[in-house]
Amino acid sequence: SAGGSLYERIGPQALKALVDRFYSLVAADPDLAPIFPSDLGHTADKQLAFLTGFLGGPPLYHQRYGHPRLRARHLPFPITPELAQAWLRCMKAALQQTPEISPDDARELYAALSRVAIHMVNTPAAGS
Ligand code: HEM
Repeated sequence: SAGGSLYERIGPQALKALVDRFYSLVAADPDLAPIFPSDLGHTADKQLAFLTGFLGGPPLYHQRYGHPRLRARHLPFPITPELAQAWLRCMKAALQQTPEISPDDARELYAALSRVAIHMVNTPAAGS
């Protein structure tokens, strides 16, 4: 892939477009929607701040909210492997709906987010 961080390659506008599309899909997902607040604006702002730093841009989440401690922050929500897959399905669809992000960058971003999503699993698979 081209030089620079993933954040530099994707750019702030495309990243914001991706996050907005992602939370539209989350709001429409029957498994994910019930665990999220009904107004996703604040959640989307936090996610955009987090991803900005995570992808190599300015550390906005750290500056505004402190250390992300992502796994701990997700412990109040029972995240099964199925729920992590639902999250990743929404992210894959959002990437497909964001042509401003090149296929190579989309693949790299998705691979990085897959690792984080699997790390968030804190509840066994339903029925196991
Ligand atoms: C917050 C669910 C994966 C980053 C949240 C919230 C929920 C949630 C319910 C609280 C929303 C709110 O109160 O505003 C999930 C589920 C996941 C998942 C079901 C499936 C694996 C991820 C991943 C990332 C991430 C992979 C990072 C790439 C965040 C951030 C917040 C958040 C930054 C805001 C934390 C804060 O309150 O400051 N997530 N999440 N999540 N999630 Fe996730």
